[in-house]
Amino acid sequence: MTTSRASDVLPLVPALSDAIGRRFEYLRLSLTDVCNFRCTYCLPDGYKKACNKPTELSVDELRRAVSGFAELGLWKVRLTGGEPTLRRDFEEVARAVAGIPGIRRVAMTTNGYRLAERARVWRDCGISAINISVDSLDPARFAQITGHDRLEEVLRGVEAARDAGFDSIKLNAVLMRGVNDDELAAMVDFVTTRDLSLRFIEVMRTNDNTAFFSQRHIAGQTVIDRLEADGWQRLPRQPGAGPAVELGHPEAKGRIGIIAPYSKDFCASCNRLRLSSDGKLHLCLFGDGGMDIRPLLQSDDREALTDRIRKLVGTKARAHRLHEGNSGATPHLASIGG
Ligand code: 5AD
Ligand code: SF4
Repeated sequence: MTTSRASDVLPLVPALSDAIGRRFEYLRLSLTDVCNFRCTYCLPDGYKKACNKPTELSVDELRRAVSGFAELGLWKVRLTGGEPTLRRDFEEVARAVAGIPGIRRVAMTTNGYRLAERARVWRDCGISAINISVDSLDPARFAQITGHDRLEEVLRGVEAARDAGFDSIKLNAVLMRGVNDDELAAMVDFVTTRDLSLRFIEVMRTNDNTAFFSQRHIAGQTVIDRLEADGWQRLPRQPGAGPAVELGHPEAKGRIGIIAPYSKDFCASCNRLRLSSDGKLHLCLFGDGGMDIRPLLQSDDREALTDRIRKLVGTKARAHRLHEGNSGATPHLASIGG
């Protein structure tokens, strides 16, 4: 217990942190669980609407939610899904979020659908960072993985994002044994010659993909080892950085990040919270389900909302239980934001 008054040094509301001192600065906001792609690790049979599916949070509810988190010190928001851009009011949401006091950075994750046409508009809405899923640079393989023969269109979208002046563009590639693990060198070349960054993501086990996971999972460390052998070096962790390991190369402008949730101590640097498209706060991707904060988004009683968030965050578990074969209650990542 501290004896100093809040007004001495600390801002009125101290940064949001949990029982083991992890600070939360970053909110991943799922705008919809709908997706038009059918990625083999996520929605292999395509999106299926549940019959009692709750409605998505409205722009007002989203604005109240983000304002509450911002008051607790979160300053970065990622708009995700599902495919967030399938929401008809996506641009309105983006502008609303970008205009909330305290929000300094709005990022988005997309499968690249319509990016070629919309990149500039999305940038103008106040989104400054964009992650685009590109699991293969081979058109036929891309089609096999996603169910859509759209690699060329997505790559045009990447170019459009560069032209639109996003200040961070990252390509996300999920590593899959026997599917794209022979493309590592090609992907690294692709980004180093184009001033883009790349993220290799270990395929994560969810409730719906256990067989796929055991067949396809590759440890991110194998990629780190290969990159280090090629002269890539681990970069010092930036303040506020999340759990990715980042590597740079003297001849590359972009960076390579590895997201390896099965590695030791991954959870120690967790700095993010997730809000699902129907208003459930998820403290962990692999947790036991979200906690409903939607009732608190019906009025402008900010204090009730921030009190509740603070209490819930205090209960965040130290680490996931993936190593015990427990991947939590998440059916697939489209449901709570990838
Ligand atoms: N494992 C790893 N990454 C996943 N994504 C979705 N589902 C999984 C999973 N099971 C990733 C997508 C995309 C981001 C939205 O989340 O590839 O890059
Ligand atoms: Fe859609 Fe993303 Fe899931 Fe692929 S990974 S099916 S793009 S939500």
